[in-house]
Amino acid sequence: MVERSGNGQSRRGFLKAGLAGGAALAGSLAAGRVLAADDPAITQIQDWNRYSGDGVDAHPYGMPSPFEKDAVRRNVAWLTADPVSSVNFTPLHKLDGIITPNGLCFERHHGGAAVVDPAKHRLMINGLVEKPLVFTMDDLRRFPRVNKIYFLECAANSGMEWRGSQLNGCQFTHGMVHCVMYTGVLLKDILAEAGVKPAGKWVLAEGADSAAMTRSIPMEKALDDCMVAFAMNGEALRVEQGYPVRLVVPGFEGNMWVKWLRRLEVGDEPWEQREETSKYTDLLANGKARHFTWAMDVKSVITNPSPQAPITHGKGRLVLTGLAWSGNGTVARVDISTDGGRNWKPARIDGPSLPMALHRFYYEMDWDGSEMFLQSRAMDEKGFVQPTKQQLRAVRGANSIYHNNGIQTWYVDTNGAAENVEIS
Ligand code: MTE
Ligand code: CO
Repeated sequence: MVERSGNGQSRRGFLKAGLAGGAALAGSLAAGRVLAADDPAITQIQDWNRYSGDGVDAHPYGMPSPFEKDAVRRNVAWLTADPVSSVNFTPLHKLDGIITPNGLCFERHHGGAAVVDPAKHRLMINGLVEKPLVFTMDDLRRFPRVNKIYFLECAANSGMEWRGSQLNGCQFTHGMVHCVMYTGVLLKDILAEAGVKPAGKWVLAEGADSAAMTRSIPMEKALDDCMVAFAMNGEALRVEQGYPVRLVVPGFEGNMWVKWLRRLEVGDEPWEQREETSKYTDLLANGKARHFTWAMDVKSVITNPSPQAPITHGKGRLVLTGLAWSGNGTVARVDISTDGGRNWKPARIDGPSLPMALHRFYYEMDWDGSEMFLQSRAMDEKGFVQPTKQQLRAVRGANSIYHNNGIQTWYVDTNGAAENVEIS
């Protein structure tokens, strides 16, 4: 037994004795350090080992360890004119698994984050319905509830990368995505209560924020898997994510997931066609625009190593990890290349593989310390394969902002530092 003596003497003794027996293991411990008997992290008693910690009344709402202060959302000041109609990004390189913690879900607002009093919030249904209705939050909770894990990706995610590599870090190139478990009710149950008239083909969803953001959802999708959600990861929605209630439109572009949802108008044409200019289209090289591109295409990114998360442990065993997702369903497979797409090897998907949710992949390798061009390529259950950026540009040109699902390349140098590059 190790005794807690102030000078660490007995620990040192224990380690020396232990070393002889463990020596035979050293060769196979490729990912471990050499067991140094004079490592002060082992031989000296630390303060947290010496003094009592905070009591149970110190943190009514728990926060991450102060040593995790870099795991924060970040924005790019020059991207938008002001931070109110803007975006910040999920720190993907600091996360693992498939669930995004509530405080780290990227935010995209057109008029800032509205702070809505749930007691005064109403959800109205009008338009082509038998019975226009108004629901309080209490009313919504009386419908049967469902729990579903879905990713939300802004159509503009990776939008700055259309013309070439630009932002140095997966947080900025791919961080307009998050994945949480939603609790709420099915939109179809609410629509059934109001009774959709046969001519009703679209559901116009409107937010209660200052931007009164409005998008149209095709009736087929509305009656399929859309949710009116009031909780994420087990607690009430965060203000930034639309508290007290938001629309969940699985697999479809984030813009349709109206936050602070206050109105559902059933109509016979999409709201976007009532306006002179329709939003969220993809401008092609020939001047035409792609319209109603709702489902998010199959996509993946290596989160570690990446520019904000270099390799710091030197050569030898390396766990490469990242995320993959598809608006078409589950991700069937992810391949990894360390040489810029010449050779591919399958990665290991671990954790739940759920339709329209993030998938976590790992690729365990032995890094010999030479430079690498890291890429990941996802394939979804429908057989769609993530294209290279060149393939994408050949079809869409470089004018687009939205729906860039091209393969990302990180150049890793011999020191383990990583950089956003493109291979031509
Ligand atoms: N809903 C309202 N009411 N107002 C908004 O500005 N932004 C949309 C959508 N819903 C928005 C909104 C966009 S463009 C995206 S990508 C998602 O919300 C972002 O959701 P998040 O902030 O929860 O990440
Ligand atoms: Co968006």
